[in-house]
Amino acid sequence: MRVVCPGSFDPVTMGHLDVFERAARQFEHVIVLVTHNPNKQGMFTIEQRLELITQATSHLNNVSCDSWSGLLVDYTTKHDITALVKGLRSGLDYEYELPMAQMNHRMTGLDTFFLLTDPKYGYISSTLCKEVARYGGDVSGILPPVVVDAIHQKLADNPNA
Ligand code: PNS
Repeated sequence: MRVVCPGSFDPVTMGHLDVFERAARQFEHVIVLVTHNPNKQGMFTIEQRLELITQATSHLNNVSCDSWSGLLVDYTTKHDITALVKGLRSGLDYEYELPMAQMNHRMTGLDTFFLLTDPKYGYISSTLCKEVARYGGDVSGILPPVVVDAIHQKLADNPNA
């Protein structure tokens, strides 16, 4: 069975990577799908996010990535995919994810599998990592090494990124 792990991934974190690795053990193929939100100006472009995901998942031979702007259910229908996999860190994530999962199911019957986040990554978010990095804090161990390098480079090029 092929599944999609959707998200903004701006940028991909160790928490995301843990979910991809665990999904890759349970499912035949995992597509990490970077969704484009025109209302959100990200730190990394969609192409940069895809490149970082490709590098961070290079050890996983049944994981690939793609991007999409529009409804997730249109992507899954187009590619004959019947389920998503998402990580759940907390009750807050549950409150946010539940209506989306139910709406997606109502639209096309798309199912969502939730993997409980490894507690060692439970407090990590892309937003918090960017904030810590912007103020010069240490983000090693919470972002994949390739992303640590990329975020330092990005902030060296543009401290307001
Ligand atoms: O990075 P996030 O916030 O976990 O990603 C949320 C995401 C991208 C999965 C969600 O915003 C999404 O599904 N966007 C695609 C547009 C869509 O299908 N919206 C309706 C969801 S019911």
